[in-house]
Amino acid sequence: MTDFTQLNQEYEGKRPKDLIRHALEQYDRIAVSFSGAEDVVLVDMATKIRKDVEIFTLDTGRLHTETYQFIEKVRKHYGIKIQVQTPDQVALQAFVTEKGLFSFYEDGHNECCGIRKIAPLRNKLSTLDAWITGQRKDQSPGTRSNIDLVELDSAFKGTNGDLVKFNPLADWTSQQVWEYIKMFDVPYNELHERGFVSIGCEPCTRPTLPHQHEREGRWWWEEATHKECGLHSGNIISKG
Ligand code: ADX
Ligand code: SF4
Repeated sequence: MTDFTQLNQEYEGKRPKDLIRHALEQYDRIAVSFSGAEDVVLVDMATKIRKDVEIFTLDTGRLHTETYQFIEKVRKHYGIKIQVQTPDQVALQAFVTEKGLFSFYEDGHNECCGIRKIAPLRNKLSTLDAWITGQRKDQSPGTRSNIDLVELDSAFKGTNGDLVKFNPLADWTSQQVWEYIKMFDVPYNELHERGFVSIGCEPCTRPTLPHQHEREGRWWWEEATHKECGLHSGNIISKG
């Protein structure tokens, strides 16, 4: 059984790529989850360590055109395969037929996210023992300030039950991410040039104003402090 406390202490202060290397050495059934935003730095770091590292993205069907174009750009730039996970067609069709295409503005994003993101993610994670995410503490004071570099995922299960979640960028700031992007000429989503900071689905993401927190651009019609769509609900379940 992994000693997560010790592992976190060991990698505190080290570079994200050191933890990614450790993760890829430890687990065969492991993948990087790439959202099509600035977490592209994970793709850059991971592919430099292992060219054929498994990478997946959740295509909700509602991403910005720019995000789809960016995912394609990343695929070609690195010469990699990106698995595009899509929602269950029967569940999605039933949901949209019943509630229309914009029900999240009326009764919240949980149901739509559940079908378009969480169920496909659960399917994908059930084939893995570990996953690597681009979550950072500074992304959300309300829900991410306690995330660890490595943790047991309390929301999803892997092939044998336990699922390990690596958050190599947990301690990085947005500024460090962008310095990396510029320093290594990493491609980025052009929405970032138009005031978008945190990027999710098109109907649920908007640019932020100067001094607004990046999370305020997501599900802005909902309560401000606990904005998680369920991909990282362990942040709320286990850490409050
Ligand atoms: S979200 O839960 O609010 O949507 P966020 O956009 O902050 O998450 O991204 C944090 C991390 O979650 C990303 O770096 C990525 O690892 C994972 N993630 C978020 N959205 C997706 C997606 N569409 N596909 C794959 N991974 C994603
Ligand atoms: Fe649906 Fe919005 Fe969630 Fe995307 S972010 S899955 S459009 S509720």
